[in-house]
Amino acid sequence: MRNPRGARRRRARGLPPGAGNGYNPAMIRSATRAGNDRLPLADEAATVRLAAALAPLLERGDVIALSGDLGAGKTSFARSLIGALTGAGEEVPSPTFTLVQSYETPKGTLWHFDLYRLAAPEEAYELGIEDAFEDGIVVIEWPERLGRLLPAERLTIALEFAADPGARLATLVPAGGWTERLRGLQFDG
Ligand SMILES: Nc1ncnc2c1ncn2[C@@H]1O[C@H](COP(=O)(O)OP(=O)(O)OP(=O)(O)O)[C@@H](O)[C@H]1O
Ligand SMILES: [Mg+2]
Repeated sequence: MRNPRGARRRRARGLPPGAGNGYNPAMIRSATRAGNDRLPLADEAATVRLAAALAPLLERGDVIALSGDLGAGKTSFARSLIGALTGAGEEVPSPTFTLVQSYETPKGTLWHFDLYRLAAPEEAYELGIEDAFEDGIVVIEWPERLGRLLPAERLTIALEFAADPGARLATLVPAGGWTERLRGLQFDG
């Protein structure tokens, strides 16, 4: 089985086995064809390093969309990003059930959303997503759930499983100003 964690994760999230998850491999393939960087992350430490490399580029108003299947490493990446901004020691629980957690950072509030359980995009208003977009740094797991409410100006990071169970592939999909800003990313693997 390609993703043995998937069934357990679906149960943990209160969904039946095989329930749709919004993951869209075609998006990743087309992004790769469009010449985006597909970065091998050999182990979890590499995921931490990619997040640490992205952290200095972030500013208030930024939206980072983390896409990928259950267990692909979205929370691991978000946790590493938050750790890089707040300093080690901050506890970063997965917002699987709360749907949102916020953190004070030197760059303003960082909002970490997990929208897997969102039944309709409009439910995100009740989570305060408009305020978050207005003045915070917003990191979103399962961004597909937002539909047309997902800001066009964003950096999408699509995480995929690789052949090695401890490895992942990351595709960076910049939109708007992110194409230029990504030139400042210093990541060697
Ligand atoms: N290279 C890697 N990068 C990130 N996580 C990795 C890597 N290798 C193994 N892992 C493991 O994969 C798991 C990723 O879990 P995580 O909760 O981050 O996934 P997720 O994408 O947030 O899933 P969900 O859709 O359920 O929220 C963790 O157990 C982590 O230790
Ligand atoms: Mg997660």
